Amino acid sequence: MKNSSAWWIRIPFFFFLIFGLMEYFIDSGGQPAFIAYPITQAFLLLVLLILIAIEMILAAIENVMFHTLSETAQERYLAKKQSRWQWDWGKRMYQKLLGSKPVEEEHEIILDHNYDGIRELDNKLPPWWVYMFYITIIFGVVYLARFHVFGDYDQELEYEREVAQAQQAIEEYKKTAKDLVDVNTVELLTGEADLKAGETLFSGNCAVCHKMDGGGGIGPNLTDDYWILGGGIKNVFNTISEGGRPGKGMISWKANLKPNEMAQVASYVLSLHGRTPADPKEPEGELWVDPNAKVDQVEVRQQDSTTLEVIMENTGTAF
Ligand code: HEC
Repeated sequence: MKNSSAWWIRIPFFFFLIFGLMEYFIDSGGQPAFIAYPITQAFLLLVLLILIAIEMILAAIENVMFHTLSETAQERYLAKKQSRWQWDWGKRMYQKLLGSKPVEEEHEIILDHNYDGIRELDNKLPPWWVYMFYITIIFGVVYLARFHVFGDYDQELEYEREVAQAQQAIEEYKKTAKDLVDVNTVELLTGEADLKAGETLFSGNCAVCHKMDGGGGIGPNLTDDYWILGGGIKNVFNTISEGGRPGKGMISWKANLKPNEMAQVASYVLSLHGRTPADPKEPEGELWVDPNAKVDQVEVRQQDSTTLEVIMENTGTAF
């Protein structure tokens, strides 16, 4: 049968419709569902086969019905089918937007003058062009009113908004990529959940040597102001990640703990500061003064004269 119906439109249409619905309803995170769940590929293949089968059945039925028709009816059917697949609306619209006169009607718009046989048509501006021109006028009026009369956002505000949005996106990203922290970017974590996780890690890995209350055993006291390898989140993170001095017993933990876990346990260690352990070890190392802390804050905290000297050394303050 000539000019069979447009199966090549129907099959892709339904196939991509089902594909789209599937992607919409299956929550597969950032990846498309057909990659995240390979089983859906089998589903899509099945859908495709079913669509093809339906088309084949329809064609077969049409064929059988066609043969039951009388000869004249067959001819009429074919003629109708031939004309059916013209997209009349699209054609008419195209002609209208083009606005050109058919050659047969050109005599209506030809101008009177005649230059050595060269004549001129008085064509109208093509409607597609005119409509676009109107749209730019409307756009211009709206733009003028919105930004110059009512003073909606300006470029600076737009920039700031976009930066804020990007900042937010970075925060979101960081939440899912916590293990990006290293010794340079690590910050003291104060969230309940992080400290709790840090406590669990500490009791599982560190308490054997540092005691659960941080008072110290094989390892030094972690609750006082004295640090062998430096206090503050960056130094403590570094100690945990890289280990202590060779042969002292504090191993490098970066092979066993993820960066985020090291940040959590380091924050937990620092949260032990100021507690009074049951059986504290003597302070070891040097008094640690945060180089970023203000001098007068430190002064209030530490008042005896020997530590004051250390403070002056550490902060480089001259009295
Ligand atoms: C095998 C015993 C042992 C274990 C387990 C251990 N440490 Fe240590 N830790 C030590 C020793 C010993 C030192 C002293 C290192 C030095 O003097 O260089 C130390 C030093 C430290 C320091 C530096 C203290 C300072 O004064 O500078 C920190 C912080 C620390 N440990 C945290 C931890 C954390 C967190 C864990 C668990 C992930 C842990 N340690 C597990 C033995 C241990």
